[in-house]
Amino acid sequence: MMILGICGSPRDQTTNYVLNIALSKLKNNSFKTIDFEVRGKDIHPCQHCDYCLKNKKCIIEDDMQELYPLIEEAEGFIIATPIHCGGISSQIKMIMERCRALEAKDLKILSGKTGMSIAVGGDRVGGQELAIQEINTFYIIHNINIVGGGSFGANLGASFWSKDSLEEIKKDKYGFETLNRTINNFMNSLKKS
Ligand SMILES: Cc1cc2nc3c(=O)[nH]c(=O)nc-3n(C[C@H](O)[C@H](O)[C@H](O)COP(=O)(O)O)c2cc1C
Repeated sequence: MMILGICGSPRDQTTNYVLNIALSKLKNNSFKTIDFEVRGKDIHPCQHCDYCLKNKKCIIEDDMQELYPLIEEAEGFIIATPIHCGGISSQIKMIMERCRALEAKDLKILSGKTGMSIAVGGDRVGGQELAIQEINTFYIIHNINIVGGGSFGANLGASFWSKDSLEEIKKDKYGFETLNRTINNFMNSLKKS
């Protein structure tokens, strides 16, 4: 069972750090994992040319062509985003838009897979919940089963306060609690599916 982690930060810092902790936990529980970073990648927004509707593939020859088969193969997704301007990064938004081409090929291509979110903000209340909701909305649209932290100590997904620093995010005890709760639910859901 392959789990695809997508890191939406343009750099290898706090978001990739916590995503890799999540992926390590999955690896230790016998899941195959792939970490796809947008950093250094050439990914463009959808241009709404509708080429995909007729030709069942995207016309834009950029690094999404590397990501498309990984998205198709994955049973589960961890979308990890830094908070940029109160929500998901534009890189994550572009990936979401470009998934239109996958469903132009097969409407059910993502249906029944499982997804969770990680949001990392420099501020404590900098837009993490909104970013998680944006990711969850993407999951709903694609009929992907959403996992959060569950009830009693509930959370919508993993939410971190980085204070803009790799050293500081390591001290975010609450953030790691949200990650642990969410990843445990994620693994349980995957095992049932
Ligand atoms: C363009 C930009 C906009 C940002 N906007 C916010 C914001 O609205 N709220 C917030 O909490 N942090 C904001 N930040 C800070 C980042 O979310 C924070 O530094 C995060 O840890 C960066 O993740 P990274 O280290 O993986 O790149 C912003 C950073 C950038 C570069």
